[in-house]
Amino acid sequence: MDISAGHRVLELGSGNGEMWVKNAERVPFGVSVLVSDISEDFLNQARKRIDNQTNQYSFKIIDIQNIACSDGDFDRILANTMLYHSDNVEAALTQVVRVLKPEGYFYATTSGLDHLQELKELVTEFDSDVVFPLNGANKKFCLENGETILQPFFKNIKCIKYANSLRINNADYLYEFITAFKEDKNYNIKPITENPTSFLNYLKSKIKNTYIEVTKSSGIFITSNT
Ligand SMILES: C[S@@+](CC[C@H](N)C(=O)[O-])C[C@H]1O[C@@H](n2cnc3c(N)ncnc32)[C@H](O)[C@@H]1O
Repeated sequence: MDISAGHRVLELGSGNGEMWVKNAERVPFGVSVLVSDISEDFLNQARKRIDNQTNQYSFKIIDIQNIACSDGDFDRILANTMLYHSDNVEAALTQVVRVLKPEGYFYATTSGLDHLQELKELVTEFDSDVVFPLNGANKKFCLENGETILQPFFKNIKCIKYANSLRINNADYLYEFITAFKEDKNYNIKPITENPTSFLNYLKSKIKNTYIEVTKSSGIFITSNT
């Protein structure tokens, strides 16, 4: 992302602020960043984790569908793996364009429909009643439909795809990851939690002495109107 002194940056759906923790040294002096999320809990985590000795960062609860900021307030706006969470992606993008300067840039990362596909196949092979929440959760804004969705809002759209994969060789870690989403109301995990030992043994038998390869497909849309 191209940012320089004087720029005002807005991050929407920041989660725990990981991006600013990891990239602290890449944020030039004189850039001000408004870190925001709809969740107070996540925003508090971000506030605690981000080093703000220079007072470059401020924090605010913001719903992307109703951004309480002035028109044309920001030079750069980021939405990392979050647009598909909004009920109405078009309403969210209308707000983004409103608070972005006419010469500003909007960056949106997302995943592809095949992201973690093998995990869904793995759990449904164990029991066809399991519904894995990650699979298809990004349908509202993914690498496949992102450009079409962005077109009414931005003149210039560039998509950079990042194809990757994970090799998982530890059944315990995989078990932890798969069961970590148990609070998600779209997740039917009962067949797994009712038979934890047989699920873990099933994972071990799948991994054997090698690994399971899982697709990671992600990318970024870089958009502007100039
Ligand atoms: C998958 S997490 C991504 C977090 C972070 N951007 C990252 O890449 O690690 C999605 C985030 O979007 C937030 N979120 C969901 N709906 C939102 C909305 N309507 N407006 C703003 N943030 C929202 C969630 O609270 C969560 O922190």
